[in-house]
This record gives sequence, structure tokens and C-alpha cells, in this order.
Amino acid sequence: MAQIIFDHVTKKFGDETALEDVSFEIEKGEFVFVIGKSGAGKSTLLNLIMKQEEVTSGRITVNGRRVDIMKRKKVSEHRRRLGVMSSEVGLLKDRSVYDNIAFAILATEQGNSHMKQVIMRMLGLVGLAGKFESFPNELSGGEQARVLLARALVTSPDILIADEPTANLDPDASWDLMQLLAEVNYQGMTVIVASHARELVTIMKRRCITLVAGTVVADQRKAIYNQKATDIFEERRVLSKK
Ligand SMILES: Nc1ncnc2c1ncn2[C@@H]1O[C@H](COP(=O)(O)OP(=O)(O)OP(=O)(O)O)[C@@H](O)[C@H]1O
Ligand SMILES: [Mg+2]
Repeated sequence: MAQIIFDHVTKKFGDETALEDVSFEIEKGEFVFVIGKSGAGKSTLLNLIMKQEEVTSGRITVNGRRVDIMKRKKVSEHRRRLGVMSSEVGLLKDRSVYDNIAFAILATEQGNSHMKQVIMRMLGLVGLAGKFESFPNELSGGEQARVLLARALVTSPDILIADEPTANLDPDASWDLMQLLAEVNYQGMTVIVASHARELVTIMKRRCITLVAGTVVADQRKAIYNQKATDIFEERRVLSKK
């Protein structure tokens, strides 16, 4: 059974349809980009996986459990198995790098005597062991992004979900971060990345689910980001609305 299954999922916000009849499966250990223009529904798709939003119709299965009908008391357990990296949930500015990560562990009640080792090992993995005492405002954008990654990974999730992880980064830092995500995936973790970053998506040659106005218009293995194809779909959509 696939690790993540969307089965005819529709999500509406009032009259606004954010996702329409979306179906796909993601196997354990896959690396998948979700791409599309602003407003295409990328974040909504990720939020549905995390059960931050409720489906309007359709079924979502994650790790063999039905998320769409999941009881409230099971939701925190479900979320604990997901590592989330999003600039919307930024770092706590008044805490050190170390404390930011410790906070994430304590929030999931996984704190124990090995916590310090776990945190330092994770910071080593993202190349920031020397900065554990720094505060967020003392870090570059790329370093902050790597702390967000370390924070997402420190609870050993099954799936890493990253919403625009390179949003505020220059090309070099974006590339470094993508290499880290690829490395994490190589170690066996499922990785799902919502992104605008065309060049990166093209270079990475991974599976790519393309959304246009809430609909999946392409699901390609080893994809290259095809701006023209996306534009044509967008154009057709606008024309058919007239
Ligand atoms: N909480 C909400 N309430 C109302 N409408 C929403 C809400 N969240 C998203 N939408 C709408 O759903 C659609 C998809 O939004 P979503 O945030 O998923 O797009 P996105 O692809 O992530 O865009 P971006 O690239 O700008 O992050 C948009 O039209 C948006 O306005
Ligand atoms: Mg978004």
C-alpha cells in the first residue's frame, strides 16, 4: 500500500475551489515536488496531509490511516510522524538554535537524556554544529533554513513535508538545501516539497506533480519544469471559464 493516497480529493473554501478531484499515490521513500503557480493549491495539498485542513470530499490515507475521517484524539499522533518545514512556522527569535530544536522535541514529548546528542547530531547533519548557541538573527537565510530542516527532522518523522523551503534563499543556498533534502531522501525518508523554483526542480529530476488551479495537470517521473505547458493549461482554463 502506498504511504500517501489522495483519492478524488476536493477542497473548497466557501465558493473557492482550492483542489478539485485530486488523486495520486506516493510510495514510501519517494521524493516528490508539488509545483504550480501561486494559488494553485500546493499549500492546501500539504495542509490536508497534515490534517491542518479538512477535505470537502474524497479520501486521504497516510501511513495506512484514513486522515479525512481521523478522530481528533488521533491527530496529534498522526502529526508527530510528519516533519514539517515551512517558513510560516519560523524560528523562535528569542531562543538559540539549540533551544529552537529542543523546543520541537519537547513539544512532542520525546524529550529524554539523549536529547542533547540527538540535537547536536542533527545540527552536524545540516552543517551547523558550530552555531548551536547562535540566535536566529545571527544566521544567514540559508543557515536559518537548515535549522528549520534540522527541527523538522529531529523527531525522526516518516515523511518530510516542505512548503517552499527555498522561498527566501539565493541560488547557492537553495541548491545546498536541495542537496540536503536529497540526502535525507537517500537515507529512506519520503520527501514532499512544494516549490516555485523552476531551475531546481529541473535540475533535481524527481517526480513532479503539477497543479493548475487546484487540478493535477501532470504527474511526471524525473520531471523538468515546463513553464510553457503550465501556461497553456492556465490559458485553456481561463478561456473555458469565459
Ligand atoms: N484558509 C483559506 N481560506 C480561504 N481560501 C483559502 C485558504 N487557504 C487557501 N485558500 C485559497 O485556496 C487557493 C489555493 O491556495 P494555496 O495556498 O493552496 O495555494 P499555493 O499553491 O500554496 O500558493 P502559493 O504559491 O502562493 O503559496 C487559493 O485560491 C487561496 O486563496
Ligand atoms: Mg503555498
